Amino acid sequence: MTYHLGIDGAVPEWLGIGLQNRVHRFDSGRHLHSKKFMTTRTATAYANANIALVKYWGKHDGPLNIPAVSSISMTLDGFGCLVTISSSTSSNHELIIEDKIGDLRASTRLHAYLEQVRMLFPFNGFLRVVSSSNVPYASGLASSAAFFAAIAVAINDFFSLKLSEKNLSLLARLGSGSAARSIFRGFVGLYGGAINHDEAFAFPVESNASLDLCMIAAVVSTKEKSISSRDAMHVCTKTSAFFKEFIATSKKDFHDGIIAFSRGDFLSLGTIMEHSTLKMFAVMWSAMPAINYWQPATVLLINAIYELRKMHGPIAFFTMDAGPNVKILCERSSIDTVKEALLSTCGALTLHTFFPGAGAHRREAKDLHNA
Ligand code: PMV
Repeated sequence: MTYHLGIDGAVPEWLGIGLQNRVHRFDSGRHLHSKKFMTTRTATAYANANIALVKYWGKHDGPLNIPAVSSISMTLDGFGCLVTISSSTSSNHELIIEDKIGDLRASTRLHAYLEQVRMLFPFNGFLRVVSSSNVPYASGLASSAAFFAAIAVAINDFFSLKLSEKNLSLLARLGSGSAARSIFRGFVGLYGGAINHDEAFAFPVESNASLDLCMIAAVVSTKEKSISSRDAMHVCTKTSAFFKEFIATSKKDFHDGIIAFSRGDFLSLGTIMEHSTLKMFAVMWSAMPAINYWQPATVLLINAIYELRKMHGPIAFFTMDAGPNVKILCERSSIDTVKEALLSTCGALTLHTFFPGAGAHRREAKDLHNA
């Protein structure tokens, strides 16, 4: 798919009416390629990763990354990505990750994203994106969510777009569906389903003050996954025997999740999270060819949570993403009990405990990659 404007300057229909208006406004009024942007200016932003409690899996066809279902997540404190944008003197967009040139896959994905951005907010020339992160790359720990949320905020600053958080979430979603949620702090919803670009935005989910939640990430592996979530979703959408059922039942999970948050009902929330997670994996396993991200340690950890609940009641619930790592939702008061159970069952294991974190935000240049 190419992203050129039509001869008459019109934007392709797939961008949706809202974006067509926006492009026209920017195109006629304020073109984003003054000398000022092309030389010394830089913009830096930070975003935390987020983990879904009610999962999304599958997207609409096309480049807009509209999730097939609505989802709910938790933004993780102190687990994220710092991005700096500047003009590139090269004849292509540049990506530098941890002081090294980004690999072909990451660079190609970034290039496609920045060309989509150019469609929305026309600018001349190319951009240089420098990122550093404490989230392991492409191992189901939401590195791309943090990366694209940080980029969206940096772009907003770099071009002085003054986008609202809602519009930032739309911009981040074009890079990675789940990135839309990292724009917001704490607990976050993201609309998906049969909707247009402008309707697939993230929003803060009201959480009852009685809920004092945290997420423990049990890291089984930080190896890069064998198939990207984007490609895996494509296979599942086309071939999974259970994909339709996942779509049909996820509306209720989303609705019930929002209610559980507002009531402070931890038991319902955890139950919905596990149900949504296991349905997502059932979709992957029933695809042709089947997709599996789990490892033996993933199953061990799940069993450890089941055993823990037998002994202590419903104090912890698990979820996983496109990778083998297990994330456990529990209340602050149960952290020690949960960690002990995981370590005694699974031995040497890296555990990270996260509380709800801040939404994506700009940083001053002086924080540059030392944060
Ligand atoms: O947004 P992506 O393409 O990184 O896909 C994320 C999909 C899951 O993490 C598995 C689920 C979710 O809702 O975040």
